[in-house]
Amino acid sequence: MNSGFFSKRFIVLVGKGGVGKSTMAASIGLAAARSGKKTLIAELNTTEKVPLLFEKSAVGYQIQPIAENLYCLNIQPEPALREYGLMKLRIRAAYNVVFENDFMRKLLRLVPGMNELLLIGKAWHLEQERDRSGQPVWDCIVVDAPATGHGISLLRLPHVILDAVDKGPLAEDAGKIRDLLTDPRRTTLNIVTLPEEMPYQESLELLRQTEEVLKMPLGFLLINQVWPEVMDDRELDILNAYRDGHRGAQQADGAAECVRYMVGRRKLQDEYLEKLKLRFRLPAIEIPYVFQESFGPSAIETIALHLEKEIERHERQ
Ligand SMILES: Nc1ncnc2c1ncn2[C@@H]1O[C@H](COP(=O)(O)OP(=O)(O)O)[C@@H](O)[C@H]1O
Ligand SMILES: [Mg+2]
Repeated sequence: MNSGFFSKRFIVLVGKGGVGKSTMAASIGLAAARSGKKTLIAELNTTEKVPLLFEKSAVGYQIQPIAENLYCLNIQPEPALREYGLMKLRIRAAYNVVFENDFMRKLLRLVPGMNELLLIGKAWHLEQERDRSGQPVWDCIVVDAPATGHGISLLRLPHVILDAVDKGPLAEDAGKIRDLLTDPRRTTLNIVTLPEEMPYQESLELLRQTEEVLKMPLGFLLINQVWPEVMDDRELDILNAYRDGHRGAQQADGAAECVRYMVGRRKLQDEYLEKLKLRFRLPAIEIPYVFQESFGPSAIETIALHLEKEIERHERQ
């Protein structure tokens, strides 16, 4: 069996808010779909982002097609609970008595962790789904986990439940979810970060929690929004000298300013790129900053192509 990244059926992404997790989920999803895998991107109870990146509208809990072979949904606790209730109770009349009132909302509020369990439980259930011939319905599920703290507590929940109860239906469900999350044949957890101070610090914490608490199999460190290397110091000196020789020429001033800014940004990033690679024993992939006026399907396509190439390169090594 192929042991590569895209052979995993459960690709989880974690990271600080705003680092580009949803962008990576969309791009990894697109790359998987393009390799022929029927792929689902699952956002977990968040303001939906993935469909918008494909210029589709957000439709919540419904699975919607967004590209060839590619689908997405936003797993929300209330419809997940309704579905779970229907599955367990089967008879709609009995279900209506139990669930179709305030009960559900109260339950979600009262039982700590219930929301999270439903979210990760639904993701697990999607991984388990089989068609009539017994084949998995989804070849690949990309899970866009909530930002750092929430993401960790969500992925940790099965462990917490199993520490508290060791028998009964809840323990059984938690056990199955934990088995999926810790199974290196099916699952890979990937950390998304930026070459900047705060994301760097948070990604270190994520790594520690993953190794010590979650015990999930690690995949890649995805370093997003890396600025291009436009010039080295010598070239910059030449540019500055040229600019000094043409002082007052507006275009030369503007161009030099712009280049200096880019060189400065990149220098700052270099420091963190180095730190990230030093501290993480994970294979790292740098994702370029995509300069496009509107960040949509073509940016996702650019990043997907880049990821495909980089993942392949790592796997050849
Ligand atoms: N590689 C990139 N190049 C340029 N802009 C990016 C890149 N990745 C993400 N972005 C920008 O950052 C914003 C936040 O990304 P998003 O994926 O929504 O982050 P998260 O899901 O981690 O909160 C996006 O709307 C996009 O404009
Ligand atoms: Mg997001």
